Amino acid sequence: MTDITITRRHALGLGLGAAAACYLPWNGVARAAARADAPPLPVPPLIEPDGNGVVKLRLGKGRHAFRVGSEAASAGVNGSYLGPLLRLENGARVTLAVENALGEETTMHWHGLFVPSRLDGGPHNIIKPGETWSPEVTIDQPPSFNWFHPHMHGDTARQAHMGLAGLIVVTDGKDGERGLPQSYGIDDLPLVLQDRRVIEGEDVYAPDLMDLIHGFRGDILIVNGVEGPVAAVPKGIVRLRLLNGANARNFHLRLSDGRPLHVFASDGGFVAAPGPVSRLTVAPGERYECLVDFSGGSAVDLLTLADDEETGEELHVMRFVPDAGLPVAVTAIPARLEDPGMPDPSLSIRRRSFVFDERLAANMALMKAPSGQMESGHGMAGMHSGHDMGSMEMEGMHDMDHSMHQGRSAGDAGAPVAALASGVRMAMAGEPFDMNHIDVEAKLGSFEIWELQTQEMAHPFHIHGASFRILTKNGEPPVPHEAGWKDVALINGRAELLIRFDREADRDHPFMFHCHILEHEDVGMMAQFVTV
Ligand code: C2O
Ligand code: CU
Ligand code: CU
Repeated sequence: MTDITITRRHALGLGLGAAAACYLPWNGVARAAARADAPPLPVPPLIEPDGNGVVKLRLGKGRHAFRVGSEAASAGVNGSYLGPLLRLENGARVTLAVENALGEETTMHWHGLFVPSRLDGGPHNIIKPGETWSPEVTIDQPPSFNWFHPHMHGDTARQAHMGLAGLIVVTDGKDGERGLPQSYGIDDLPLVLQDRRVIEGEDVYAPDLMDLIHGFRGDILIVNGVEGPVAAVPKGIVRLRLLNGANARNFHLRLSDGRPLHVFASDGGFVAAPGPVSRLTVAPGERYECLVDFSGGSAVDLLTLADDEETGEELHVMRFVPDAGLPVAVTAIPARLEDPGMPDPSLSIRRRSFVFDERLAANMALMKAPSGQMESGHGMAGMHSGHDMGSMEMEGMHDMDHSMHQGRSAGDAGAPVAALASGVRMAMAGEPFDMNHIDVEAKLGSFEIWELQTQEMAHPFHIHGASFRILTKNGEPPVPHEAGWKDVALINGRAELLIRFDREADRDHPFMFHCHILEHEDVGMMAQFVTV
């Protein structure tokens, strides 16, 4: 079934180049605009546990074509870039056999899967090169769209950017009754949104100091591992499972003809009613599922803002082209889905506050340090050309937002530097992350209210082994599509979350909470908790 699906899509996609090339009406830059050689959307292979309940995931290095005719060093799961979509039935007992054929240490974190911490690949659960780690997990959570990626302290960003990530769908088998599309690869499409700076050669991830401070953003947008793909879709309702798998870029999505995205689920499962959204922000690590109506038959482009400025230019992400030859299974948007309910905030047994601390002054000082003073020895080499560091430090990050939060190109960047060796440090719970320090003890099964505060820029908060509801963002209740169970929330200012501690975390394998800008996570904007 899976193989046939992929073959069919490839066959369809190959004929679409000419049609795609005629379309140019958006006002953004044209470089990523529906190239004449736009590839068909690759669909990750769908895999399920074998007869013994085993799923094999082999991590290895390879080479990958992000654009037709180019090739770059990469890594992937059961392939050369990214990995399969793992479909797991709720209630199933599954052995996730992760073989590390990378030639370097790694870990594998089940982002969004609620399993005890010893079965989850946080920074403490290292898989040595050549070894296989086989946690046996029981799936026990609502239908949801999740993912997996490595979580090495100080090295998550590089490993994820190389391509080590895959998808997990938890299903209860009832999407047909709900009126939701469920033909994988036809009207049920996963879209992994990422960005890159180079798509050729060996140094696919080479952050400089500014990248560590702002997060690594490239100027080439890719979906499921290729630039600007074209998806053939049936002339009906199609389900898009959106994952922001980028290290740092926020996607601010909209469809080019103004038709809405009907968002019906987020990280932790369904929101009460599918609501039309004209511009959908998806932060790193965050997931949304939405329905799009293609019954009118016209093609449409998915666009995103070039940076986090609402008035800025737009970039082309990918294109959808309805194809009358594809079977239509769903013709109407379901009016309602299961309401996730709302726990009473008075259930909370305590409040805690955390500040996303960029340590801007200390980190900016690193950029001015004479060569040789930094641990890395790079000195000024990491400086972004064309900026004056003295005034930048005075003005803070705000004035850099416009230029720095756009994707940078390879020619833009300074000398590459490894996260921990750079001397850049950030914090989430007062001090930069320390593997040996437990920051929080939470009562298993309890609720707490966490107040989160940002300083200079927006940060996507994420917590392992727990789920939360947004109570307020800057004093306001969340918009409907952010009001369900979540594990990632983009915070810009002040927010209050009601967190439920779902799964046990022992002292040898604490759970993490952190900024999901992976460079920030790597330089210490992370903390850990155990349950008691
Ligand atoms: Cu997706 Cu701790 O991460
Ligand atoms: Cu996670
Ligand atoms: Cu951050």
